[in-house]
Amino acid sequence: MTQRTAKLLLDEHRAAIELPVLRGTLGPDVVDTRALGKHGVFTYDPGFIATASCASSITFIDGDAGLLYYRGYPIEQLAEQADFLEVVYLLWHGELPTAEQKLEFDNLVTYHTMLHDQMLSLYKGFRRDAHPMAVMVSIIGAMAAFYPENANVADPHQREIAMFRLLAKTPTVAAWSYKYNRGEPFMYPQNRLGYTANFLHMLHATPCESYEPNPVLVRALDRIFILHADHEQNASTSTVRMAGSSYANPFACISAGIACLWGPLHGGANEAVLKMLEEIGDVSKVGELVKKAKDRNNPFRLMGFGHRVYKNMDPRAAIMRQTCHDVLGELGLHDDPMFKTALELERIALEDDYFIEKKLYPNVDFYSGIVLKALGIPTSMFTAIFALARTAGWIAQWNEMVSDHAHRIARPRQLYAGPGRREFVPLDQRG
Ligand code: SDX
Repeated sequence: MTQRTAKLLLDEHRAAIELPVLRGTLGPDVVDTRALGKHGVFTYDPGFIATASCASSITFIDGDAGLLYYRGYPIEQLAEQADFLEVVYLLWHGELPTAEQKLEFDNLVTYHTMLHDQMLSLYKGFRRDAHPMAVMVSIIGAMAAFYPENANVADPHQREIAMFRLLAKTPTVAAWSYKYNRGEPFMYPQNRLGYTANFLHMLHATPCESYEPNPVLVRALDRIFILHADHEQNASTSTVRMAGSSYANPFACISAGIACLWGPLHGGANEAVLKMLEEIGDVSKVGELVKKAKDRNNPFRLMGFGHRVYKNMDPRAAIMRQTCHDVLGELGLHDDPMFKTALELERIALEDDYFIEKKLYPNVDFYSGIVLKALGIPTSMFTAIFALARTAGWIAQWNEMVSDHAHRIARPRQLYAGPGRREFVPLDQRG
């Protein structure tokens, strides 16, 4: 098949620059602009609206059709039929595990869930009201000090150990950040429990009485982890890749991803959605909020709405809405006022010309907060839950990049808009 090219004519005095057009398995073609540099010109795309930063085989999103595939499998099928660690295996290895592979994978994770005992003292350095994301950024980054051997990212064996340590210990780090907030003793992982049940146990159990997580709620949270596990080159994943491109140790890279995810325009939106729904109070005030969100002179955004890629319903939001029904039904909270407000907000917004014209639909964060609250997860932990689940995808994306021997350090260029050359003026001569 002949190589397709795109021609760029900068001005009539120069020959057109021919650039290769590359086609992936699915999704839009890309123009390979790497050769532009030698013609003395760069592309300009702040926010990477139309820029592919890498080639990846892990996750595919079709924003117009509202599709999300992990290694080719539709998210709806994975959320319905798989468990979280099975999906992690798929993200990491590219194929669903056999029963034997899954058992080995689950066991490897189970036996890496404890933290180094000296890490407990790191928690004591925080104020009691430290946000769990601040704690996670710190403790995950500090793991580099406990496992220096994993800094050798060129060694596949060291990478694999670091991957399991991160996947297995992140729930413990997250749960203990919540226990620290509450002044309750840390609960150690229980090897008899599965990944998600173990997390709920560390979050809610106390030494004073036995605690068995409700299996329906465990399944709901496990599904939430699946929905949040990866999402191609979003801001936090791109941060992890950027940090990893310098061969920084894996703990520092994941810590950087957690920091980026914390932003209210990204993973912090789930916490912001719940605060927004709480501020609305009752359904009658929804119209007022939608009006505020449409006011271009008002920076207010409807949290949980809109997406850089999805210009259709985020498939995860639809699954999350159903999970909301399931969990609230299981808990006898059918009349949860916040869920009713959310449903009314979604109904009004989806009928409103502003949202229709700008293709603003509920995203993954719109319903997740309501489910997490119903699961007894405190608002402060919502983004920590997102980070816990997304660690699986960050690791997969990081490993895909550092395993590629052709990868290079990420070093974007710029459009310089500052002053031209000028001469220094000594202090006593300045006006
Ligand atoms: C996540 O990238 C990913 O994949 C992220 C994520 C993942 O899994 O990793 O899916 C997770 O981050 C989901 C998004 C969570 N964030 C929010 O819910 C916060 C609210 N949403 C917005 O801030 C916004 O929609 C973004 C940040 C999500 C997307 O921003 P873009 O792509 O830069 O779009 P934009 O801000 O340029 O908006 C386009 C227009 C603007 O109007 P105009 O300037 O063209 O007139 O739509 C408007 C915006 O004002 N708009 C909104 C809006 N979102 C966009 N108006 C009101 N409410 C909103 N929520």
